[in-house]
Amino acid sequence: MPKVDKKAEEEEEAEKKRKAKRAKTFQTVRGMRDILPKDQPYWQRLRKVVEKIALDYNYERIDMPVLESREMFERGTGKTTDIVEKEMFKFKTKGGDDVCLRPEGTPSVMRAYLQHGMQSKQKPVKLFYSGPMYRYDRPQEGRYREFFQFGFEAIGEQEAILDAQLIQLAYRVFQTVGLKNIALQLNSIGCKECRLKYNKLLVSYLNNRKAALCMDCKKRLKKNPLRILDCKEEKCAQVVFQAPQTVDQLCDDCKNHFTMLLESLDEIDIPYTINPRLVRGLDYYSKTVFEFFPESSEEETQGALGGGGRYDYLAESLGGPETPGVGFACGMDRVVLEMARQNTKSYVIPVAKVYLVQLGDLAKKKSLKIFDELERAGIMVAESFGKKNLKSQLRLANQKGVSIVLILGQREALDETIILKDMESGSQEVVTFQKVVDDVKKRLKKSADIAANKAKKEKDAQKKLKALNK
Ligand code: HAM
Repeated sequence: MPKVDKKAEEEEEAEKKRKAKRAKTFQTVRGMRDILPKDQPYWQRLRKVVEKIALDYNYERIDMPVLESREMFERGTGKTTDIVEKEMFKFKTKGGDDVCLRPEGTPSVMRAYLQHGMQSKQKPVKLFYSGPMYRYDRPQEGRYREFFQFGFEAIGEQEAILDAQLIQLAYRVFQTVGLKNIALQLNSIGCKECRLKYNKLLVSYLNNRKAALCMDCKKRLKKNPLRILDCKEEKCAQVVFQAPQTVDQLCDDCKNHFTMLLESLDEIDIPYTINPRLVRGLDYYSKTVFEFFPESSEEETQGALGGGGRYDYLAESLGGPETPGVGFACGMDRVVLEMARQNTKSYVIPVAKVYLVQLGDLAKKKSLKIFDELERAGIMVAESFGKKNLKSQLRLANQKGVSIVLILGQREALDETIILKDMESGSQEVVTFQKVVDDVKKRLKKSADIAANKAKKEKDAQKKLKALNK
């Protein structure tokens, strides 16, 4: 083959590769997803409800970084937990720091509490957060590698009434977003002393049945026997069914704490089930542990909408002084899924009632100013500044169902006037730039009053009809 042909062929091949590279499109990384505008109304409703209830219960917002020290989770969440052992996104920075994407919020909140000297504040220090968490797990519906949590933490007091109030708060969130049939499971795993006593009893029970346990639980028997209680393997669940229960080994103090919690929940009519196998997958818990399930998927950990408990030793494991705490976090992705499943009310995104049409370059420039003035006056305005043609802009205005169209042509732009078209009456008038905001405001108020009157009349008529039918 002549030399020059070969070169041309190679060049053609290289160009093909370059083209293919340029044409390549991208997808989200496995386990990550976009939350699209069409899905936002449920998310927005949940965010708003969480913020409102946080305010009502006197919780202050805290935002922690997504990137934190790996060792902090090893010591806080626990080295032998699934989250730390198997699911952390961890890496070294260029500077050599061992970091990870946070898999949960509680150790970060406690770190922030200690780092910023919040011990000197009035107790309990009540903090809430919401944001993304990262766990390298097998993705499926309701389980993602990036997921969102909102969480509440009350730090500094050990009274059981705080545990009850947090559960009440969580219920209030579920109730306010419109969720029904949320089941609460509860347990107490006691303090260090109860745990020591219980672990001995559990290990001696399980040692006799070791052969029947899964591989992971055989390891857990040495490192973290309590975790065997909530293993999802069927064969382990069978072994655990007859195992000694934590609540039977509680010291007097822990027993009283648990009783006070149960009595407080009875007082506020929150139903619960005591689940002796509920220990939660994280190491820092002591005394109270709890989880919320939609009733349809009870017993399935995958379906837990949220969970929490007391963590009276977490501060010490992070190098701080003895500091009790209690909290919970909910998976927002799962709460939103459940809201959609139960068809609850979603946030109604406000829509513009005014459309701004412009014709020509000068009108375009002036339109920016008019838009700004209307927005500052609290009036939502839709526009299509990229469009030139009057017909296409009016068509868009019609599609949006606005009640007022403002038209700014070349002549109006020079005169500093604007055509105001009332879409309900069809009337049209020319107003000055100075008057446009006031005029629009008055007209919007009038049409809102008419709509409210109409709605009231319809409601009254329905009431009358109901009374007649009785
Ligand atoms: P957690 O049980 O690990 O607790 O997570 C709380 C909730 O986050 C779960 O009930 C679930 O709804 C959601 N969640 C967990 N993993 C995923 C995932 N891969 N995809 C979607 N949702 C998920 C904690 O994180 C503790 N920090 C709770 C706490 C706060 N305890 C005391 N204070």
